[in-house]
Amino acid sequence: MYQINDNYQKLPGSYLFSTIGKKVNAYSAAHPEKRIIRLGIGDVTLPLAPAIIEALHGAVDEMGKAETFRGYAPDLGYDFLREAIAENDYRARGCDIGADEIFVSDGAKCDSGNIQEIFSLDNRIAVCDPVYPVYVDSNVMAGRTGDYDSAREVWSNVIYMPCTADNDFVPELPKETPDLIYLCFPNNPTGAAVNRSQLQEWVDYALKVGAVILYDAAYEAYITEPDVPHSIYECQGAKSCAIELHSFSKNAGFTGLRLGFTVIPKELKCGDVSLHSMWARRHGTKYNGAPYIVQRAGEAVYSEAGKAQLEEQIAYYQKNADYILNGLKKAGYRVSGGVNSPYVWMKVPEGMTSWEFFDCLLEKVNVVGTPGSGFGPSGEGYFRLTAFGSYENTVEAVDRIKTL
Ligand code: MLT
Repeated sequence: MYQINDNYQKLPGSYLFSTIGKKVNAYSAAHPEKRIIRLGIGDVTLPLAPAIIEALHGAVDEMGKAETFRGYAPDLGYDFLREAIAENDYRARGCDIGADEIFVSDGAKCDSGNIQEIFSLDNRIAVCDPVYPVYVDSNVMAGRTGDYDSAREVWSNVIYMPCTADNDFVPELPKETPDLIYLCFPNNPTGAAVNRSQLQEWVDYALKVGAVILYDAAYEAYITEPDVPHSIYECQGAKSCAIELHSFSKNAGFTGLRLGFTVIPKELKCGDVSLHSMWARRHGTKYNGAPYIVQRAGEAVYSEAGKAQLEEQIAYYQKNADYILNGLKKAGYRVSGGVNSPYVWMKVPEGMTSWEFFDCLLEKVNVVGTPGSGFGPSGEGYFRLTAFGSYENTVEAVDRIKTL
């Protein structure tokens, strides 16, 4: 008789955004006349930029001609895209990252869930609390997290690093020593950012204790402050202790197209073993590469026209973030994030839980956000709103919340 991976049985509930989707769909089915404004999941709403559409059309045409047709993509990504990433995201920022240290994939969510496979099950992970649920859930599936304490909503073998108003939502170095440290800055869900010297402290710490930092830089395009690093490789020594994950979803609207990349520097080694070689082996075995047409679209992100058009898109979402942040602040809410991030983190009214506030917003003003407790116990009492809606919807959502 076959057996299943019992670790899956340990997962509490469904994936956060699926739970929210079900609740909203049920409400909408019961009240079809209501116009719901969705500022929950961080999904973009602007159409793809013209430079990207043009690249897609061009690549589709190539696929229709014998001379330019492409079959399987190279496992690790086409050189034209890896070169464009290395040049624009790294060398232009003074980071010495080579094209051959970049692994192209179908998105940062998949990479952030899969990367734990190359580490021992004995490794102990440390995560921010609140945290993007994929980091924890994928380690639960692998069997690395111990037992779940449903009363406290924590796993026995995970080191939680609380991010609260007391520490400006930036974690302190953990008291227990982790092997793998998940960091995401600008942060999902709190929208908090770290400056270069704060991030350098984490790199120094990881080098000291022999840990690897899994650094999720999915939101770097939203950074507005000069002292906030766009990449962990802006810190000294990071190439020996950090893996960086990137997405094309938030900076270029690829949530539906799917494209991302992971950087593993060649000097990142466990003893003599190169993590770069391990991930290359994993990619070669389990992955056939992101589609050619999508990689050509990714290349267009770095063209002069693409850069200019995407700058405008990001500015559009930044304006929304600013409206939410300042609109709710003026209305008396305690809010943070939104300056280097498309996420605004708000304190829910006294006496309410995050989920109670979620229900209240959905039912009374038909606005959807994400309950902070869905991201971890320290998220209780908070609520996340995204800036990825249209400007008109964003203004209306804030105005509706003000009426509560
Ligand atoms: C979020 O809302 O946290 C993100 O959209 C999730 C994701 O990028 O997978």
